[in-house]
Amino acid sequence: MHWALPFLHVTYTDAVPRGPMAVGLPPGTPRVPVAQLRTERLLLRDWRDDDLPAFQRLNLDREVRRYFPAVLTPYESDAFAKTIREGLARDGWGLWAVEVLGGAPFIGFVGLARPTFEPFTNSVELGYRLARDAWGRGYATEAAIAAAAFAFTSLGLTELLAFTATTNGPSRRVMEKVGMRHDPASDFLHPRVPDGHPLQPHVCYRLDFEAFQRARMTPPVMAAPATPGGSR
Ligand SMILES: CC(C)(COP(=O)(O)OP(=O)(O)OC[C@H]1O[C@@H](n2cnc3c(N)ncnc32)[C@H](O)[C@@H]1OP(=O)(O)O)[C@@H](O)C(=O)NCCC(=O)NCCS
Repeated sequence: MHWALPFLHVTYTDAVPRGPMAVGLPPGTPRVPVAQLRTERLLLRDWRDDDLPAFQRLNLDREVRRYFPAVLTPYESDAFAKTIREGLARDGWGLWAVEVLGGAPFIGFVGLARPTFEPFTNSVELGYRLARDAWGRGYATEAAIAAAAFAFTSLGLTELLAFTATTNGPSRRVMEKVGMRHDPASDFLHPRVPDGHPLQPHVCYRLDFEAFQRARMTPPVMAAPATPGGSR
């Protein structure tokens, strides 16, 4: 059975221009079409080179990085974007760049990622990071719901995880609004945060498809047909 949110439209595009950031891909790397998700107010799309300056500003903002050990330098920000773009090119899904329809061309990223630390490497997590002037409008929740719907309906995943520093109230609130449940048994000390650092304790939230459907309280509808090779 297909199930999707009525407002979620998924298209797949392989027509995104790939600039210098794609250079790191080995020659001959097969390109899969990158899915693009459209919600009522947002477009979750592949990245463009002109997103990078705004991503640098976001990652230099101490408030955005309040629940991380440090800000990212522009070099680190570009390297992170490169890794994200390689993931999208490899998988066709990932941490999408978020654009406000008819508004800001880039407000940050929301999407899906494969955790790179144990014991979560066989899972897929929901992740989000938005520029401060985009906060408080429900954008993270709207985009995360679209990403979760895509994960369950298009990828056929059975569970999603999400992690954040225990003290990150806004992030935990987004997880709850998506329908996730805190799993205290899976809370952990983040292996990439220094021992003893106040941000080392992390919470783990989980979501399965049934819980997601219940949380959305939306009856099943047919998925919007994908448009192979559609352009943005
Ligand atoms: C987390 C983040 C993506 C949320 O983005 P957003 O678009 O503002 O999120 P939403 O508007 O969808 O929802 C935010 C919710 O958090 C709530 N909130 C805000 N500050 C809060 C706090 N200190 N404690 C608890 N909840 C808080 C808001 O009231 C809102 O809930 P509501 O709709 O019930 O009122 C954004 O704050 C961000 O990018 N933060 C920096 C990066 C980060 O921490 N990312 C997550 C790392 S895992």
